Amino acid sequence: MNRTKKQEELGVSYHIRPPYGLLNDPNGLVQFKGSYHVFYQWNPHGTIHETKSWGHVVSNDLVRWRTLPPALEPSEWYDKDGCYSGSAVIHGEELLLFYTGTVKQKEGDKKSYQCMASSIDGIHFTKKGPLFEHPPGYTRHVRDPKVWEDEDGLWWMVVGAQTEDMIGAVLVYSSKDLETWEARGPLMKEPLALGYMWECPDILLFPDKDILLFSPQGLEPEGDFYHNIFQSGYLSGHLDKDGLFEVGGSPFRELDRGFEFYAPQTFIDDKKRRLMFAWMGAMDPLVEQAVPTVQHSGWVHHLSLPRELILEGDRLIQKPVEELKQLRGNLSPAGATLEKMNLAELPSTESEIIVKWPEGCTEDFKLSLREEVVLFYETSRKRLTIERTAWYTGKRETRSVMLKETLSSLQFFLEATTMEVFVNEGKETFSLRYFTQKPSMKIKMDEQLFATPSVTIYPLNIPN
Ligand code: FRU
Repeated sequence: MNRTKKQEELGVSYHIRPPYGLLNDPNGLVQFKGSYHVFYQWNPHGTIHETKSWGHVVSNDLVRWRTLPPALEPSEWYDKDGCYSGSAVIHGEELLLFYTGTVKQKEGDKKSYQCMASSIDGIHFTKKGPLFEHPPGYTRHVRDPKVWEDEDGLWWMVVGAQTEDMIGAVLVYSSKDLETWEARGPLMKEPLALGYMWECPDILLFPDKDILLFSPQGLEPEGDFYHNIFQSGYLSGHLDKDGLFEVGGSPFRELDRGFEFYAPQTFIDDKKRRLMFAWMGAMDPLVEQAVPTVQHSGWVHHLSLPRELILEGDRLIQKPVEELKQLRGNLSPAGATLEKMNLAELPSTESEIIVKWPEGCTEDFKLSLREEVVLFYETSRKRLTIERTAWYTGKRETRSVMLKETLSSLQFFLEATTMEVFVNEGKETFSLRYFTQKPSMKIKMDEQLFATPSVTIYPLNIPN
């Protein structure tokens, strides 16, 4: 294992993270001339939410990432206080970025402009400036343009917005040439009373159904739902030829049920897969400043692993991309049986753990990882709960999900301070940071030994 001291300290080694400063949303996801480009909201000057640039990494395999110079930095009158989130499209030989230029007013308010920048080599970008006027009837919280082309060659853009009466919304624009944009109005006929602001909208077109993915702010906790500071989720329905989205099917569904997951964005790659990255994740500012890497290493946050999205009925299934198997080292001999697992030590903090109950899990159990994160399963309610220590308060805290089907599999991607859990082949996921109280590598499962699962543990190699 080629882990360096530095990586050990940082605790995040195979997720995309900033070299220093603060990372938030994934931006401009695209496969351009064969390479995967991931941009991200980046404050290189500190670990607070100020002066956002677009950080930039590229990869040929979604596993090994190379850092490029920042693609966009605040410089012009229309983006001098931040190049906020947005998306990328390929147009002929060019890679185009759409983003929100942010300008702070004296009174503290911000103005926002939807802007474009272009590049031939995918490395150096030329700013083209704002594309259209601010829409009347909406506050200055209009941002995060996501652009795509339809089958007839018409370009569409959705932006997150807030009505003047403080209701979250999405606005639609269309264009024949990507330069002149026509305002088509709100995405939905009737506003949905779902929070005061919708950020980072994304439209996912599947053969039988369309999905609106977005990040609403201002939802109150309800049962097991909406316990994080902000949420991300989706509605299924149908997008018509005029750019109107008719909601049909399930109510708003949270995409991830853990603690840290926000502002997901998707794109379609050359293999025609719908891939997604998210930010892990939005936090209360006090909690954010208490993340240990802020003090120790001057950086904070990372992206999720790339996940492939598949639509089953009107549910999005999330799978870690196949390419991540390249990280696997030799199978751990400790991983074969439950008894062994009761004694097991993880082979490495970078590990993938797969637990399977081929007949479905019929016993309640408790699975603890590194004596810090604990998963509980209650068979009677098919309820899965994950528990960790809140690093700001020192108290234990939980997130839970009621599964539709009996629990049959868990797949963990672990790093020293972060983990992603895929439940029942990606029907549910939990994403979270965790900080151990002691340097334990223990993995332990308590249950009445009837429903013995099969357990596989791979140490993961850190890509160079
Ligand atoms: C979401 C968000 C976006 C905005 C960006 C600024 O986390 O607030 O709406 O463009 O972050 O960094």
